[in-house]
Amino acid sequence: MRTVAVILAGGVGVRVGLGIPKQLIKIAGKAIVEHTLESIENNDHIDEIIIMMNAESIHELDHLRDSGQFSKLTRILPGGETRNDTTQLALAALPDEECKVLFHDAVRPFIDDRILDDCVMALDTYDAVDTAIKSADTIIQVDDNGCITDMPDRSVLRRGQTPQAFKISTIREAYEIASQDPDFRATDDCGVIFNYLPDVKIYVVDGTAENMKVTEPIDIHIADKIFQLQSKSLSSEPSEVPDLTAKTVVVFGGSYGIGKSIADLAEFAGARVYSFSRSSTGTDVSSRKSVRQALHEAYDTAGTIDHVVVTAGVLSIAPLTSAPKKQIKQTIRTNLTAPAIIAQEAFDYLKESEGSLTFFTSSSYTRGRAGYSLYSATKAGVVNLTQALAEEWTDDNIRVNCVNPQRTHTPMRTEAFGDEPEGTLLSAEAVAGVSAQVMVSPMTGQVISVRL
Ligand code: CTP
Repeated sequence: MRTVAVILAGGVGVRVGLGIPKQLIKIAGKAIVEHTLESIENNDHIDEIIIMMNAESIHELDHLRDSGQFSKLTRILPGGETRNDTTQLALAALPDEECKVLFHDAVRPFIDDRILDDCVMALDTYDAVDTAIKSADTIIQVDDNGCITDMPDRSVLRRGQTPQAFKISTIREAYEIASQDPDFRATDDCGVIFNYLPDVKIYVVDGTAENMKVTEPIDIHIADKIFQLQSKSLSSEPSEVPDLTAKTVVVFGGSYGIGKSIADLAEFAGARVYSFSRSSTGTDVSSRKSVRQALHEAYDTAGTIDHVVVTAGVLSIAPLTSAPKKQIKQTIRTNLTAPAIIAQEAFDYLKESEGSLTFFTSSSYTRGRAGYSLYSATKAGVVNLTQALAEEWTDDNIRVNCVNPQRTHTPMRTEAFGDEPEGTLLSAEAVAGVSAQVMVSPMTGQVISVRL
């Protein structure tokens, strides 16, 4: 039996209140609805996808249909006044034959294969399927005065998510009966089955906490963070080295430490590697002329630049009050100005190759650390630079990401912190392995943590 996924994107997102439909808000370089579409497109059990889009903004999704990237996406149709209207419009647009149909909120971008598989499979036994998670909070019932009237036993309560999946004949029948009811009110599709076809058993598949619905302003921040956490899955196993045959990789800061390991690994993986640093090629990354020359040299001989990696950085330990003026200037120039200059100078090359730019940050980017305040501050700046550039360059198909290695065994670190116990530091090779995967991965705007 065919399985059709309907992405419900007919709403406006009043509660997020950003002035654009919330499904169009960009997180990690892409609109939320696009992330959702990608996850569903990549699931083996889904045969066809239709998007029901907020009518006023429907043209904003033209590129998804035209890109050819989503082979299962057959139609983008206008949604209705309410969520249930949108569902009914989708039902009306689907053919008469029996099929499995999954309704999924566009604004739940973290839908995963396990949930999708479970829903599709459950339809072999049941005619209706919901997705839900346990509630960590106690759910209470209140009256009009705001006083508690009931406290149902938490262990039997669940919080409903989507997908909600049905045999199409069953959900059609439920809506048909509902249409006779002048007091019809529902907020989801399982509710329509529950109220109007009470004999139909609705099986419940386990959802996940990540499968949250972007609803309130704070959810944008949470979603952003979940994307960052998800990029973790890149492996630091050496066996996962991607094939870089015929690719050109330019590394700024490639003479030692992580930069050197990346250059070595990229070469091993088949790439032409151009490595620049102050000590080996006299390249000053904070000098536009120097950077321009380096990139020009690589492009001139290789004919293309596919990936640019910036590992150059300085770390000086001293309380800010005793940091020499020169050190302040140097930290900002090398750690923040240089990435910006390299980004500007590399743009045209990367646009041509639809390549990637990879920066490096440190775990101190989320919270400044005493003793290296400016280093922390520049590393936070690099993360912001990554996210902003990822958005600015989305249409040019250039990916911009930032690797965040946990403490790594490098000469820079040893110089700053002295010898540290064996086994507590990542190897530069492991970080290089993840960096190579980041370079070729389709994600953009991400901070990828590498841990021991
Ligand atoms: N939805 C829809 N058609 C509508 C209303 C909502 O397809 N007329 C979709 C939304 O686009 C969203 C999902 O249903 O993907 C969940 O709804 P909700 O979070 O309530 O979205 P909005 O209605 O957009 O949000 P708000 O209530 O804050 O305006």
